[in-house]
Amino acid sequence: MARGLFITFEGGEGSGKSTQVARLAERLRHGGIETVVTREPGGTPLGESVRALVLDSSPEPVTELLLFAAARAEHVGKLIRPALDHGTWVVCDRFIDSTRVYQGLLGGVPRDLIGAIESHSVAPTVPDLTFVMDLPAEVGLKRAEARGALSRFDAQSTDYHRRLREGFREIARAEPARCLLINADRDPDTIAGEIWRTVSERFLVKAP
Ligand SMILES: Nc1ncnc2c1ncn2[C@@H]1O[C@H](COP(=O)(O)OP(=O)(O)O)[C@@H](O)[C@H]1O
Ligand SMILES: [Mg+2]
Repeated sequence: MARGLFITFEGGEGSGKSTQVARLAERLRHGGIETVVTREPGGTPLGESVRALVLDSSPEPVTELLLFAAARAEHVGKLIRPALDHGTWVVCDRFIDSTRVYQGLLGGVPRDLIGAIESHSVAPTVPDLTFVMDLPAEVGLKRAEARGALSRFDAQSTDYHRRLREGFREIARAEPARCLLINADRDPDTIAGEIWRTVSERFLVKAP
């Protein structure tokens, strides 16, 4: 049986990740592809407990890194890898790039520590494709505000959100084979159309 494909969505708050995760999963299922939707932190009972723990408090960046890493190891081992092995596609809202940007670039946790943990908790289950939702900081914040209560991450300064955006853009530049930068400052249908075209062309259209 063919292995399933692993697709992740990354980007700041309000960039439209959850919206596009749902849209892509709907199209895949409509096309007869068995698809699991999941998110980080979360995805397993342990992961959801970590999510509640971390989002409700303000741990040190390294504490956050280790808790997220523990949740991710469970997520990959118990849900993502078994699903992919079974031929199911997995669409995940945030994954390794959020750790690299939030705990690494913005939290100051050294890159080599993040890399070492990744290589034990994730590898070889690296995403086949990552959509990096790119949006001016102000637009994302306005959307997140309009959606309701701001999380601890949303409530940071505009400068923080600008650095966040730059961090995600840098990852997309550094890993062009895996990552695709998506202009998220467009209407949801246009964005969903581009995402679907990309997925179809890369993975679904057979070469003649
Ligand atoms: N392309 C878009 N244009 C305008 N508003 C959007 C767009 N995509 C999502 N939204 C709205 O913005 C808010 C944040 O979207 P969401 O998908 O939850 O973002 P994220 O998961 O990245 O935080 C929601 O209220 C959503 O309906
Ligand atoms: Mg979301």
